[in-house]
Amino acid sequence: MINYFDPAQEHTFDHDKDYGTPASLSTESVSLNIDGVDITVPAGTSVLRAAALADINIPKLCASDNLEAFGSCRLCAVQIEGRRGTPASCTTPVEEGMQVTTQNAKLAKLRRNIMELYISDHPLDCLTCPANGDCELQDMAGAVGLREVRYGFEGENHLSAEKDSSNPYFTFDPSKCIVCSRCVRACSEVQGTFALTVDGRGFDSKIAAGSDQAFMDSDCVSCGACVQACPTATLMENSVIEQGQPDHSIVTTCAYCGVGCSFKAEMQGNQLVRMVPYKGGQANQGHSCVKGRFAFGYATHPDRLTKPMVRDSIDDPWHEVDWEEAFNFAAQKLKGIQAKYGRESIGGITSSRCTNEETYLTQKLIRAGFGNNNTDTCARVCHSPTGYGLKTTLGESAGTQTFESVLKSDTIIVIGANPTDAHPVFGSLMRKRLRQGAKLIVADPRQIDLLNTPHMDHALHLPLKPGTNVALINALAHVVITEGLEDTDFIHNRCDERAYQQWREFIADTRHAPESTAEITGLDPEQVRRAARIYANASNGAIYYGLGVTEHSQGSTMVMGIANLAMATGNIGREGVGVNPLRGQNNVQGSCDMGSFPHELPGYQHVSDAKVRARFEAVWQAPIDDEPGLRIPNMFDAAIAGSFKGLYVQGEDIAQSDPNTQHVEEALRSLECLIVQDIFLNETAKFAHVLLPGSSFLEKNGTFTNAERRINRVRKVMAPIAGKEDWEVTVGLANALGYNMEYNHPSEIMDEIAQLTPTFTGVSYDKLEQLGSIQWPCNEQHPNGTPTMHEVDFPIGKGNFTITEYVATDERTNRRFPLLLTTGRILSQYNVGAQTRRTDNQHWHDEDVLEVHPSDAELRGIHDNDWLGISSRAGQTVLRARISERMLPGVVYTTFHHPGSGANVITTDSSDWATNCPEYKVTAVQVEKVSQPSEWQQSFKRFNEQQLKHKASAANSTVK
Ligand code: SF4
Ligand code: SF4
Ligand code: SF4
Ligand code: FES
Repeated sequence: MINYFDPAQEHTFDHDKDYGTPASLSTESVSLNIDGVDITVPAGTSVLRAAALADINIPKLCASDNLEAFGSCRLCAVQIEGRRGTPASCTTPVEEGMQVTTQNAKLAKLRRNIMELYISDHPLDCLTCPANGDCELQDMAGAVGLREVRYGFEGENHLSAEKDSSNPYFTFDPSKCIVCSRCVRACSEVQGTFALTVDGRGFDSKIAAGSDQAFMDSDCVSCGACVQACPTATLMENSVIEQGQPDHSIVTTCAYCGVGCSFKAEMQGNQLVRMVPYKGGQANQGHSCVKGRFAFGYATHPDRLTKPMVRDSIDDPWHEVDWEEAFNFAAQKLKGIQAKYGRESIGGITSSRCTNEETYLTQKLIRAGFGNNNTDTCARVCHSPTGYGLKTTLGESAGTQTFESVLKSDTIIVIGANPTDAHPVFGSLMRKRLRQGAKLIVADPRQIDLLNTPHMDHALHLPLKPGTNVALINALAHVVITEGLEDTDFIHNRCDERAYQQWREFIADTRHAPESTAEITGLDPEQVRRAARIYANASNGAIYYGLGVTEHSQGSTMVMGIANLAMATGNIGREGVGVNPLRGQNNVQGSCDMGSFPHELPGYQHVSDAKVRARFEAVWQAPIDDEPGLRIPNMFDAAIAGSFKGLYVQGEDIAQSDPNTQHVEEALRSLECLIVQDIFLNETAKFAHVLLPGSSFLEKNGTFTNAERRINRVRKVMAPIAGKEDWEVTVGLANALGYNMEYNHPSEIMDEIAQLTPTFTGVSYDKLEQLGSIQWPCNEQHPNGTPTMHEVDFPIGKGNFTITEYVATDERTNRRFPLLLTTGRILSQYNVGAQTRRTDNQHWHDEDVLEVHPSDAELRGIHDNDWLGISSRAGQTVLRARISERMLPGVVYTTFHHPGSGANVITTDSSDWATNCPEYKVTAVQVEKVSQPSEWQQSFKRFNEQQLKHKASAANSTVK
């Protein structure tokens, strides 16, 4: 008897095999017999899947295990004792005692006849077809023993149907389509976009994108799910058409957003042919978005830095040197600066794009090698308030749930996040739950795409004014408390009573009532009350938030307000609920976990704790300063003031991503030694004295930690272009500075992390191989990790309600700056765009534009595509206009993916009171029609051209 009922068996499943239909989650078991084999499976399993589990592979074409069974091709027909006919095994659920026959002469003939019909309307160009060797139609023809086609090929057919090559990444060749509708179902069920349909009937039926448009003109978001689902060469990656079939593959993790999707990097020798989402990936379960799936070409782009380079001044050309020379040059400069200006005069910045191991080593180099705590990370400018706010209230600086948890939520609140663009694979999962009937509440100044989810019933949009989040969260909590909607059991059992009583008194005050705050938020009080009731009355209410929460002057306050609301309603500590920050970059969680912040060693252990320091000092063999070091904005100020002179920036582009660009540029120009380790000559690197070429995620080993605290392996699929993985570069620099680092492999770095970080004690590369991924905390109490946090208690014992007084931002509109600018991301580009701008994703977004509401546009005589000057207290830039109703009147919006746009020339130094996270989401601006680029844009252009020339001359020069 084979028993596949035990869920623990899931680990033993072959993720490369298609079991035909999705797994059943039933807790009941059913036993049956298939071709003489006894097998036990969960009730609700299809006969096709039950057979596949026992390695009895029934031919199939229209079924796939990530799609609901459809039953159209009939190839999977079987015979069942006591039943008439030959039912389709994909649509037939197992029954107790069922006797199934999958192979006999009758079934073989039936299947051959079906295949004959398919093949008679299919080009016979197998030998030259790009799918040759990876085509299910071809496989099935072989499996059913088709030897001849009696109908001939002269009759009516679709063989001359025209190809659609509009998408830069895949081609649609309808002449090869068997109308199995797997693509249509993948687009609906998995991606949730509903861009494809089956048009027409019978022989005339065909697959159509949109209303029979080209793919690029339809709603298609290029996620690739249809391409993956297609069993023939109808939908095919262009890279496979051009390069041919891959010959081997390695599983690794996407290096774009915080979802952390697993992919099979499919290779031909050392060349990457395609990235295929990995079904065994626990964050994405076989789905992907356009970035991870297709936008990998930047890794081999000719702009990649391939040689270390040095120069004395940023006005000089670069000189190519070997690695040792570069390390020694950098070390000498840093030592000289410290000798002249003191130990505190240098520091470093880690990157959320780098691996945990690389980030750990960089902060270790700074603390132990530089001898100070001047380490910070780009999380400073995105999710530092999450760290502060969640640690204060819940006791741990991380989201509470797995992504899958959303499938158990009844009400989902999304605040200041745009999951379908910024976290697309999770956005698709969320949409799945919304189609199943969960209620959606969105608090956002913009009409985000999630609100347009097809086949969703209940959505409530609270289009609040930018900068008023805290007033809204307080109003929601006020309704919960004053209408008696709180979860008293949870509060009394799990939360600190004194803190709760103080908070209760604070929040019950009428100044927080939706009616009192309506003028602040601009929201209809009745809608706010409705939202609070929906969330509080849900069996499972979950809150997801993004940078629209954190990047405010009250970012930390808002995070605490969210945690207060979740605790007050008992929505913490089980599946379907929780407080869930959607992390922007791939390893934001990890870079924070690894001790990148100036006040915390790895695992959020404060530098002032002597016991903690002693443990690190013993392993690192170096003293650790007990004073927190400089944050990024303090580093800039100190550089301009003349006390901070040397900076090591690993994988981060502060000149483009940080606010008030002109201030950042002034700081960078003030440095005597800027060391940049990156894969491209990014905007920051143009101010550098030492360039250390970085390695892309494809060229190194390590781990990333995603937004659900999931540690995923990054595996090297090709050799580093410049010869070194990033961790080896930090080791080289440390040793040149005289601080000894010796590692042979990143697994040894992880062992050291585990030794020193209580939440990582149980993590090792061996365990990651065994389990696929691990959600921290992983230690003695949770040896296999912790999918849901705070189930029994909080790391601080009791939940800590915190007072969250609303304080209006200083960044207010006035007559000079009457509009509010807010910024965000779009699906096709990533962060500063350094990677995605070097791919065909440019087809979707090749410039940043300013979205203006029609009423604001009319007032100023603005039309689509006009050039607009945007001025704030910090600076001025010029962008093209796009008239859009996605924002409220009075609010304008842009993205920051292109350096020449200068979106951050506009954003100001205003920041979160607790963490200095910049207030990117609120800048008071004026907008007017102009005819030429801003002064900054003109000087940016000149500087850029000069620096590109300096780089071009590098190959011919040697060190002076
Ligand atoms: S690429 Fe994605 S969005 Fe586009 S049609 Fe295919 S499944 Fe739908
Ligand atoms: S395009 Fe592919 S998946 Fe879609 S119906 Fe045709 S053969 Fe099936
Ligand atoms: S959702 Fe994020 S992690 Fe997944 S493929 Fe897209 S960019 Fe990569
Ligand atoms: S695979 Fe069952 S009907 Fe197509």
